Amino acid sequence: MKATVISRTSIYVAAGRAIGAREPDTSVRNPDYLAEPLLGDPSALGLDHPAVRALTLPYDQAMQHVEVANIVRAMLIRTRFIDEALERAVAGGATQLVILGAGFDSHAYRFQSLLKPAKVFEVDRLATQALKKQRVDAVLGGPPANLTYVPVDFQHDDLPAVLTRHGYDPGQRTFFILEGVTMYVPEESVRATLRFVGSHPAGSGIVFDFVYRTMIDWLTNTEPHTLSRPAQAFVARFRNVLKDEPWLFGVPVGQEREFLAECGLVLREAFTIGGDESLKRYVTKADGTQVGAETIAAAMARLEQHTGRTRRRLGAYQIADAVVA
Ligand SMILES: C[S@@+](CC[C@H](N)C(=O)[O-])C[C@H]1O[C@@H](n2cnc3c(N)ncnc32)[C@H](O)[C@@H]1O
Repeated sequence: MKATVISRTSIYVAAGRAIGAREPDTSVRNPDYLAEPLLGDPSALGLDHPAVRALTLPYDQAMQHVEVANIVRAMLIRTRFIDEALERAVAGGATQLVILGAGFDSHAYRFQSLLKPAKVFEVDRLATQALKKQRVDAVLGGPPANLTYVPVDFQHDDLPAVLTRHGYDPGQRTFFILEGVTMYVPEESVRATLRFVGSHPAGSGIVFDFVYRTMIDWLTNTEPHTLSRPAQAFVARFRNVLKDEPWLFGVPVGQEREFLAECGLVLREAFTIGGDESLKRYVTKADGTQVGAETIAAAMARLEQHTGRTRRRLGAYQIADAVVA
């Protein structure tokens, strides 16, 4: 990826959070109320995707598009799980927070009072970070005093060395957020990053999402003409979002515990984003209905009618948290 290119995937996921933050039912509303203001004018974002176009629509209308409903759900699960993990880490004594591949991440701003005693570092590629800083200045009048922006490319820079040059202390109990990043980074850089996390004092930890290798293989090798018409359109739009940031890395299926152990980390919990557990925990309203359910069920029924096959849930997209023992 060219150094000057803004991450389109960071826009896509922040749009999913921004729309989810408009949900009227607070029990299933995405807590990221800053996603929308940080993104700013949707027409200036340079990404044509239903999730970005949906920013200009009323919530109910936006949620009628299956790709919007899907990204809103996935982001709701991610944001809520990560918010909970962060609160637990600070309550457990973490004094540093490092947000890796930060994009439009808003934890440093939404959790200012929780994080007051801690140091916070946002790590990202230079161009995306420069845009983020501009937006933070415009929306919030500048970053909180405890936040440091650290430009890093995981593929080319020495993360521990650059962080340390920016005032980071590897001897402190530290919590890491690695949200929506592992798939974009080669295996060796993912391993190096996780080994770095694993080298921290006991009680340090990380929350991160990942895909299984089968998903990378499917996305890389599937020929569009082998898919149904609606699936072709979806895959074409998704590949367009990933144009500058291809998916590279997936964990071997079911091997997350072993993969983490090799990096000095103990898996606390992992579950499928969009699987039953995640839907029950984060996406289900008091009356038992789920955010986006009607739209997604209708789209699945259309797809199954088209293909004559019952859709299998792959469970290949996971979220996890892990600790240094
Ligand atoms: C899908 S976005 C996720 C952004 C943010 N974490 C979130 O969940 O909203 C991917 C992020 O990873 C960053 N990224 C991808 N590859 C990277 C690399 N090699 N070095 C540093 N950052 C990278 C992108 O710049 C972008 O901010």
